[in-house]
Amino acid sequence: MQPFVLLGVTGGIAAYKSAELCRLFVKEGYAVQVVMSRAATRFITPLTLETLSGRPVHVRMFGSPRSRVEHVELGAQANLLVVAPATADYLARCAAGRANDLIAAVTLAFKGKVLAAPAMNTNMWENPVTRRNMDALSSLLGWQFVQPGSGELACGSTGPGRMAEPGEILVAAKQLLRRDLEGLKILVSAGPTVEDIDPVRFISNRSSGRMGYAIAEAASRRGADVTLVSGPVSLPCPQGARLVPARSALDMERAVGERAGSCDVIVMTAAVADFRPAEPSDHKLKKGKAEEERVVRLVRNPDILAGLGKRFAGARRPVLVGFALETEDVEAAAVSKLKTKGAHVIVGNLARDAFGGDRNEAVIVDDAGLRESTGPVTKSALAELILSLVAARLGRAARE
Ligand SMILES: Cc1cc2nc3c(=O)[nH]c(=O)nc-3n(C[C@H](O)[C@H](O)[C@H](O)COP(=O)(O)O)c2cc1C
Repeated sequence: MQPFVLLGVTGGIAAYKSAELCRLFVKEGYAVQVVMSRAATRFITPLTLETLSGRPVHVRMFGSPRSRVEHVELGAQANLLVVAPATADYLARCAAGRANDLIAAVTLAFKGKVLAAPAMNTNMWENPVTRRNMDALSSLLGWQFVQPGSGELACGSTGPGRMAEPGEILVAAKQLLRRDLEGLKILVSAGPTVEDIDPVRFISNRSSGRMGYAIAEAASRRGADVTLVSGPVSLPCPQGARLVPARSALDMERAVGERAGSCDVIVMTAAVADFRPAEPSDHKLKKGKAEEERVVRLVRNPDILAGLGKRFAGARRPVLVGFALETEDVEAAAVSKLKTKGAHVIVGNLARDAFGGDRNEAVIVDDAGLRESTGPVTKSALAELILSLVAARLGRAARE
């Protein structure tokens, strides 16, 4: 089916480039519906975009002869909302959850993916309030941004703030519309495990779950049927993914093991505890009056990935992807884990990068001899990269 893109245009000089973007979308075979802010109509006429998209352009919230709830209906059929240019004020309105004009209301009501290409004067771009608004939109709502470039700006100054070129925005949009994992069942494990000592104390680790959630989100968007087996984290379940909560390593082993046989791909990002307390107490442990020392005996947890490697040894499916968290010599550790775990792909990363933050730097190795350093990338970008590798292994790379 033809992808349906909602193209939002807000009021900056770069609005003239949205005509070219609209043309590129149409040339790509997408259905395009344009929504403009009132300010945008001062920079480029609706007639231009109406002619290029072949559809009437929407600007006003009230008085439309077409529909009484245009702000909801416009987004209902769209696969993607692309806003280019996105002004500082539009980003601020959206970050505040406002719906004071048609384009803000359409955005607030839209449930799909949003891709925004900010464009503004350098000082506006570097203002911490703009950064905060963008952070909120990406962390709360999963918005993706095509970062502006540096150069001479319409206001006469030079610096970052110039809208990305339409071709670059098209590439980012195509990536978000990709359905190359359609029909595949993917299981992702994420987050830490929690090993109870007693009902109020436990041993765990600092895994935030972000890497696994980014993979689940991207896989689901790319058409896969996704099950996310997750330790306790404070992240919302990505749209379309099925969440299976698991607390301890044993819970996680059970949850993964029960589902593994029917999967095409298993990506194990969870930071599973190597050990658990040998005798967890079912009542709160009390300290003795003169007790100066307490020993908690730990026993080995199962190695879930190695268990899967053994179970599916020699099989092409499920494709097994593991993560190796190291403090040094990442590539050597990743290569060695390929063999010891029986995985098809290992993604090695440094603990200092992997835990907590939004960025990562990884080395991807596979059983066909691939050795690829990603350089510093966001966890979302790394998720896309890993999934593209998996798609290629399964002969899906050419299906966009
Ligand atoms: C000539 C001119 C150029 C402008 N360019 C930009 C711009 O590139 N980015 C931006 O954020 N605001 C720019 N503005 C300010 C916006 O047009 C203004 O904040 C407006 O309220 C944005 O409305 P909108 O977000 O509904 O489109 C410009 C204003 C003028 C007069």
